[in-house]
Order: sequence, then C-alpha cells, then structure tokens
Amino acid sequence: MNQGEVAQWVDQARSAFAAAQDLDSLKAARLAHAGDKSPIALASRSLGSLPADQKASVGKIIGEAKAAIAAALDEATAKLEREQDERVLRDEVVDITLPVSRSHKGGLHPITIIKNEISDFFVEQGFSVAEGPELESGWLNFDALNIPADHPARTMQDTFFIEPVESGIVLRTHTSPVQIRTMLENEPPIYVICPGRTFRADELDATHSPVFHQVEGLVIDKGITMAHLKGTLDNFARHMFGADVTTRLRPSFFPFTEPSAEVDIFFNGRWIEWGGCGMVNPRVLASCGIDTEIYSGFAFGMGLERTLMVRHGITDMHDIVEGDLRFTRQFGVGL
Ligand code: DAH
Repeated sequence: MNQGEVAQWVDQARSAFAAAQDLDSLKAARLAHAGDKSPIALASRSLGSLPADQKASVGKIIGEAKAAIAAALDEATAKLEREQDERVLRDEVVDITLPVSRSHKGGLHPITIIKNEISDFFVEQGFSVAEGPELESGWLNFDALNIPADHPARTMQDTFFIEPVESGIVLRTHTSPVQIRTMLENEPPIYVICPGRTFRADELDATHSPVFHQVEGLVIDKGITMAHLKGTLDNFARHMFGADVTTRLRPSFFPFTEPSAEVDIFFNGRWIEWGGCGMVNPRVLASCGIDTEIYSGFAFGMGLERTLMVRHGITDMHDIVEGDLRFTRQFGVGL
C-alpha cells in the first residue's frame, strides 16, 4: 500500500457515492468502499502490524482518507435523502378537490346494538350468554316452565305451531325455555342471560310485532333471595335508562316464578312496565333436577323492542321493524 493507492481508494469511493441513484445503491457503494471489507478498512486494521517508525505517518494518511470517504458518504446521503423527500412530495400529492366516494358503511340494527349493550353489561359481572333455538319443543316452551295445558298462551291465537301440529314444535313465544335448557345442561351456580328472537301470533301495529326480541336473566345459587333480584334489576335499569331511574316490583303471576312480579321503571316522569320477574318456582327447579333444599334462584325477562322504545321515545313499532336507514342511522353505526 502506498499513498497513491490510498488516494485512488478515496477517488473510487467518491465516484461510487456520486454515481448512486438512490439510497439502496448508495448502501451497496458504502459497503464496498467504507464497509468492514473495503480496502481502506483492511488497511486500517493492518496498521498494528507495521513497524513502529511507519505507524504514525501511514496512520495519518489512512485517517485522512477515512475522513474524506466519510465526508463524501455524508454528502451523497444528504443529497439522495433530499431527492427522495422531494419525490415523495411530488408523487404522493393528494388532490383534495377530487369528488369522494359516497358509499355508506354498513351498520348494526338498533336491536342488535341494544342486545350487545345488555350482553356486555352482564358479561362484565360474570354472567354467561346462552342462546337457544327459535324452533322449540312445546315441552320446553310451556310444560317445563309449569305452564299448564289449558293456559291461554298455548292456544292457536298466541303461538305459532309448526305443522304437523302433533310434532309439538312451536316458534318459541319467549326466551324462558333457554332457562330450562341451561339448567338441564349445567350444574349450579348458574348466572346467565339469554337474549333472542321470539314469536307470537300478533298483528304488526304501533306496539306489537309477530317477531320481537326478549332478554331473559337467570341466577341459581345458594342463598339467592329477592333482594338479589331487586339489586340486579336496579343496576340493569340504571345501565339502560340512566342513573336517575327508579325501579318498582309489583306483585304479579307467572307459572314459572313464585313469588312473581312485574318490574316497572320510573322514567321521564311516569311509571312504565318493563318486564316480568320472580323467584324461580321450585317446581321448575325440580323438573330440571336442581335440589331445592340447597339452591334457589331468580329470573327476569323483558322485551328489547320495548326497552328501546321507552328509552328513545319511539312511538311506532314499524320504525324498528321496517329497517328504514333514516331511522336506523340515528342510533349510530355500532360496529
Ligand atoms: N317469559 C315471560 C313473558 O314472555 C317474561 C318473564 C316473566 C320471564 C317472568 C321471566 C320471569 O324470566 O321470571 O312474558
């Protein structure tokens, strides 16, 4: 290695850096002319083996050459980075005057939104969400719930029976059969809610729809009392209607609960019936194989359409059923 050679390495490095068209080719040039295996790096590494009287002078030459190469590299890097920035600004320019695409995002129906909202609320408290079939056996929809054979709900007027009628299959008239399914399939403690679609032979009018939705709640555990039911409904009501809402239990009758009550809410200055509830009838527990000496439980059920209508002041069921986007959009996308 002599001074001429070192000067040549510097020249070669300078012209390679200057010739690089972009940052990738500059990287290749850097590896070749300033990398670990470049001539200047090898020379620098061999300095140690030079005789002592040459070390200083050769070291100076190599040091200056390395500085020159580094300076050339910096200059080329800065130039290419500047060019790249300019290219990005030029190529990626956005014409903000172009017309935008006006297609609308899909959204969830308000019933689905409220169903998800209720499920999230109960799941946070450790409940599971159970679902049952919409085509249900008459035994689960009625008998297991202690609804007698001569109960008016079982007549042709209220219930959609599936042909042949002897099949005993109905479109479920409420979500309560999911209680039975849950108790038959699980050991207590049980904490579930069962939201779902339900069917009754009603005409569609301002307050009825033959297809509607309910949410059922069921808790079976040791030492469950009506106080637990009231507390759960209070929290649920506050979550749905706001912190100011008050609930009231009014004595009522359901074959599957004893005692039974209607749950009313005081909302917007008046009492409104919200749903049904009660302590699960020991006959129902027994028919599901649950030891009534050890366990007790409560249940409740309410309509989702009704909940939505009360909360948002919707006066016509048609709005919920018809799926007019001008109505649906007011509830947000909810995805
Ligand atoms: N299944 C009842 C209905 O459709 C509502 C109901 C009342 C459900 C009381 C319950 C309950 O779980 O305890 O009218």
